[in-house]
Amino acid sequence: MTTHELKEKYIKFFKDKGHIVIPSSSLVPENDPTVLFTTAGMHPLIPFLLGEKHSSGERLVNFQKCIRTDDIDEVGDDVHLTFFEMLGNWSLGDYWKKESISWSFEFLTKELKIPVKKLAVSCFAGDSDAPRDNETAGIWKSLGIDEKRIYFLGKKDNWWGPVGETGPCGPDSEIFVWTGKGDPPDLVTADNKEGWVEVWNNVFMQYEKTRDGKYIQLKQRNVDTGMGVERTTAVLSKKSNVFDIKELKVLADKIRKLSKKKDEKSLRIVVDHARAATFILGDQKCIAPSNSDQGYVLRRLIRRAIRYGKLLHIEKPFLVDLSKIIVKECSTDYPELVQNQGFIEKYLRLEEEKYDKALVDGQVVALKKIEKGMGSVDKKIIVGELEVLESAKIAFDLYQSNGYPLEMFLDDLNEKVGISKELSDKICEDVSKLVTSHQTTSRAGAEKRFKGGLADQSELVVKYHTATHLLVMALREVLGDHVKQIGSNITSERLRFDFPHSDKLSEEELGKVVNLVNDVIKQNLSVSCSIMSKDDAIKSGAHYLPGEQYPDQVKVYYVGDDLNLAVSKEFCGGPHAKNTGELKEIEVYKQEKIGEGKMRVYARFRS
Ligand code: ALA
Repeated sequence: MTTHELKEKYIKFFKDKGHIVIPSSSLVPENDPTVLFTTAGMHPLIPFLLGEKHSSGERLVNFQKCIRTDDIDEVGDDVHLTFFEMLGNWSLGDYWKKESISWSFEFLTKELKIPVKKLAVSCFAGDSDAPRDNETAGIWKSLGIDEKRIYFLGKKDNWWGPVGETGPCGPDSEIFVWTGKGDPPDLVTADNKEGWVEVWNNVFMQYEKTRDGKYIQLKQRNVDTGMGVERTTAVLSKKSNVFDIKELKVLADKIRKLSKKKDEKSLRIVVDHARAATFILGDQKCIAPSNSDQGYVLRRLIRRAIRYGKLLHIEKPFLVDLSKIIVKECSTDYPELVQNQGFIEKYLRLEEEKYDKALVDGQVVALKKIEKGMGSVDKKIIVGELEVLESAKIAFDLYQSNGYPLEMFLDDLNEKVGISKELSDKICEDVSKLVTSHQTTSRAGAEKRFKGGLADQSELVVKYHTATHLLVMALREVLGDHVKQIGSNITSERLRFDFPHSDKLSEEELGKVVNLVNDVIKQNLSVSCSIMSKDDAIKSGAHYLPGEQYPDQVKVYYVGDDLNLAVSKEFCGGPHAKNTGELKEIEVYKQEKIGEGKMRVYARFRS
């Protein structure tokens, strides 16, 4: 079975059960400042899980490209990937546990022909926030899952979401398939998962986590499920790890040919990171490497891929060649990859060149620092604790600022002063302590920065969402039709909007834009929504995101009484203010250039 065949089977199965197929969204969440990447199929559906109406109805199905960097250090084992595809089916206030579980069971046992005795499931054990999920366990039992293979676990294992700090979440039921040798052992416990691979998760999203940490009932009971495409394909193809499935094996084989050294873990890391980088660069939003946000993660993935490539003794640049294979293989399901192939290759090439230069420059700095250190501690940089720590600091700084790898620093150090294995291990240990404390600090920073957002649909965020639509309208009016949304990020304090434009706006242009927006706000116009076919929406002149794939039925939000005469109309999931009069007048308080031909503006309501 290939990943493509699995996706086709799944989509057809749920279409036959009344689900509408929706496209895979961008890897960069729209209007959700709580996270950097789409981490699950439910992510683009958050407003609809919270009660907003979806243009395709209450039963949805799709496959979604996802990035999870939390697991980056696990990559190299049999199942973890930073980039992966997720199949999912959703009930937005429609069916509930019985249908969801029965369909999962039917799909696994009838369509995929997995024997019932090879299945095990987990259910939520219950706590002070939500009761024990006996209902779900009862349904599994009635379908034929042996009681010995149904186990109950707490929040850590059997609760999913919210994605950020707040939002929809609920107890879940995970499904495991036995891949070990012979028949599965009789008893499955929480601590004994060896040989079992988790392939699917059914989340019963009945709760919303609020800012004060409470779990309140949502307006509607939703089902959110997620099946790991690569993992399930590996299980079905009887492969012991995801890197052996056809789609990943072609990449692994290519790397094997290029490397002069055998190292399976490094090879897997290169495969995974090359795929993740290709998909981020080739996303609808064309993310380029940079020193912040998604661009920073991308740069890190590319650099790690190159570094592990060096450990494999690959001599020439190799990422562009790998990306060509990925684009060719995945373009049917992700046409944006072909559209952005030039962009992908340009940045991979550039980063590889830059990295090679960084290595050369880094070595010059490293050697200087080592020599200086030798001088300052009487030619013995590495005697005693203090010097080890000093060496670790130098190594860490070199890595942070020059991207200079630790192992190369250790080689340099060894060449200059000769260090024992013990000492080298000690330096490594100290460097990882420094890395951990640095990560904790930046994570704390990130959380602070990404607090709030449309995910919680607070009143102010919703108003800023409407103000963003007015801003697009005004920017297009003043600067021209080339203005389109390439990024939007809203908190309860401000809106931030990215668009293609060559330079900062002049005082005069800015004045016109702000006046146009504030005029519409003062006119107290109604904001309405209409569901229509994608073709009709395009014909109506509604603004849409370039490169984004939309479902057949879309929602168009428009400002003014009549769609045809509306001052602003956009493809959008919502939610929005009901009337522009609910908004305060805005001011643009900052603008910056964020890349070649890309501008960013910040605006807030006047107090
Ligand atoms: N959102 C759920 C998950 O990612 C289905 O596991």
